[in-house]
Amino acid sequence: MSKNILVTGVSQGLGLAIAESILAAGWNVYGVSRRHSPEYAALQEKFPGRVHFHAFDLAGVDAVKEDLFGKFLPFSTPLHGYVNNAAMAYDDIVTNLDAGRLRAMYDVNVFTPMMATKYAIRHMLFNRVAGSIVHISSISVHTGYKGLAMYASTKGALEAFSKNTAREWGERGVRSNCLVAGFMETAMSGKLTEEQRQRIYNRTALKQATKLGSVADTVVFLLGDGAASVTGQNIFVDSGTI
Ligand SMILES: NC(=O)c1ccc[n+]([C@@H]2O[C@H](COP(=O)([O-])OP(=O)(O)OC[C@H]3O[C@@H](n4cnc5c(N)ncnc54)[C@H](OP(=O)(O)O)[C@@H]3O)[C@@H](O)[C@H]2O)c1
Repeated sequence: MSKNILVTGVSQGLGLAIAESILAAGWNVYGVSRRHSPEYAALQEKFPGRVHFHAFDLAGVDAVKEDLFGKFLPFSTPLHGYVNNAAMAYDDIVTNLDAGRLRAMYDVNVFTPMMATKYAIRHMLFNRVAGSIVHISSISVHTGYKGLAMYASTKGALEAFSKNTAREWGERGVRSNCLVAGFMETAMSGKLTEEQRQRIYNRTALKQATKLGSVADTVVFLLGDGAASVTGQNIFVDSGTI
């Protein structure tokens, strides 16, 4: 059966790779980001009718109901999965913490995704769909990296939210899991120097960056029927970070 999957942050990086893996599985993508990138537009051309796009700024917590669900994903379109991928990173040491920047990051990484989870679950219940929610978390929650305390705290919040969502809605068939990603080579990590990269790779068993395709394919597994008994988990795809 074909599935309709809401994915945030599809313009580039991991979100684009997740969209590609979902399409390869034969399902449809309802993609969201601020920018309609040429790479995503190319997917729309390659898979006519299966790749949808809605420009949406996740800073807008209050627009989730009307704009994201009312306009883009009305109840008449059954929703089988929600991938909370988009995020921003406010990196700095704790002694420099700025409350305004912290709040802005929490809006994008935590509050809007929590609100979207609310409406995604309502949507799944309305259409009697046993849906799957996947939050993209980060290995920084579990290892710690200098400068990532604030960012990692947003992902830790999602991990707690996901586990409790799984407990709360499992009886109605809704699953929720976190994909804990290791360091991937995307724009988000592009600011690091070669030396910093090598230090991070040396902390992994495979001594290499985490591959986007490996993370994306695991997300598709979590969305699919093969993962019907998997919920409330953190699944690590991180090149074996030790
Ligand atoms: N890269 C890593 O090493 C790494 C490691 C662990 C976990 N992660 C996680 O993996 C996920 C994907 O990260 P990435 O590396 O692919 O990052 P990326 O290349 O910076 O892409 C981020 C995506 O999120 C979208 N986005 C950002 N702010 C947004 C906003 N306010 N409203 C709507 N969309 C927004 C961006 O689109 P627009 O700019 O067009 O809006 C873009 O498509 C994130 O959750 C990140 O925390 C990354």
